[in-house]
Amino acid sequence: MSEHAPSREWKFVAPEIVFGPGCLARAGRFAANLGMERALLVTDPGVAAAGWAGKVMDSLVQAGVAVEIFDQVTPNPRDHEVMRGAAFYLERGCDGIVAVGGGSPMDCAKGIGLVAESGLHVLEFEGVDRVEAPSPPLLCVPTTAGSSADVSQFAIILDTTRAVKIAIVSKAVVPDVALVDPAATATMDPGLTVNTGLDALTHAMEAYVSSAHQPLADHLALEAVRLVAANLEQVRDRPGDLMARERMMLGSMYAGLAFSNAILGAVHAMAHALGGLLDLPHGLCNAILLDHVAAANFSSAPRRYMALGRAMGAAIPGDAPADEARELVVSALRGFKTRLGAVVSLSELGVTREHLPQLARAAATDPCLATNPRSLGILDIAAIYEQAL
Ligand SMILES: [Fe+2]
Repeated sequence: MSEHAPSREWKFVAPEIVFGPGCLARAGRFAANLGMERALLVTDPGVAAAGWAGKVMDSLVQAGVAVEIFDQVTPNPRDHEVMRGAAFYLERGCDGIVAVGGGSPMDCAKGIGLVAESGLHVLEFEGVDRVEAPSPPLLCVPTTAGSSADVSQFAIILDTTRAVKIAIVSKAVVPDVALVDPAATATMDPGLTVNTGLDALTHAMEAYVSSAHQPLADHLALEAVRLVAANLEQVRDRPGDLMARERMMLGSMYAGLAFSNAILGAVHAMAHALGGLLDLPHGLCNAILLDHVAAANFSSAPRRYMALGRAMGAAIPGDAPADEARELVVSALRGFKTRLGAVVSLSELGVTREHLPQLARAAATDPCLATNPRSLGILDIAAIYEQAL
């Protein structure tokens, strides 16, 4: 679809959102309002050790909501973790789910809800709008400024048999309530801060150039890019700077709302393939691929990429020749990654040329590829992976 596409119908879905430092302490009241009497609290050991799951649990108990804890969730949450969580949910007679953590516990919680309600296997929901039954009430408390699964209609689950990450895209997995508490991101270490922040930047950029872009998501995406570009170095260097943490959380939330409604593109399709085959961290994969995909996509959405480059702080004249404008956008991204000290090549993560055909085949079937501004075949995708080696 060109940059000059005629107006078309669009829609925007979002949960009820509460934003502000300390708001996670209201989890109990919101859970009770959603009718929960026995909540499954889904988290992971790291988030539990940081104390956030305990704080949410205290709030639930104070509101009279009984709590069952499920923390057997790994990064890149697996299909069998979802199935085990759903069995536990049913066995304990839960009537709602509270997820506390980054993208992994939240995506796992979404899968648990689908399985517990339907009795189906989680992999049966793969794809867009494949969910028919409503899910149990879901309240999310994010502890990273990156995935924004707390506001999105996406759940990404690892199919361990095929070694691919599947995407479940449905209004049914939009949480009922997101308690977005920037203070909960202050315990992230610098590495996780950078990787999750670059995931948020990728969400915003892919939503803005998506062939399904739309006016409301556009505003959120551009502002998200400005916020991440202006604050990510600050939170890496000063983890306890709560003002900067708040601006990053806002940027991540804007990016999450943007991509949930405008969908994503080749960076995420290719990152999902890497996470599926090699179990690599999602934010890191995106960060490595982002500038390579921008270079490949630029000619399909030049004005949009130029706007993104300017939101990153680059001076890009409106009459710049296409090659020059593309170089300025790509350099802005590479400069940002360099300043952050992000990993720059896939080979540093152990990816080899032998992996590329399988990775390219998996990326070509990912639903995120459908909204990439440029139509990419398996060979195009393999070429981008090769540039990122
Ligand atoms: Fe992402």
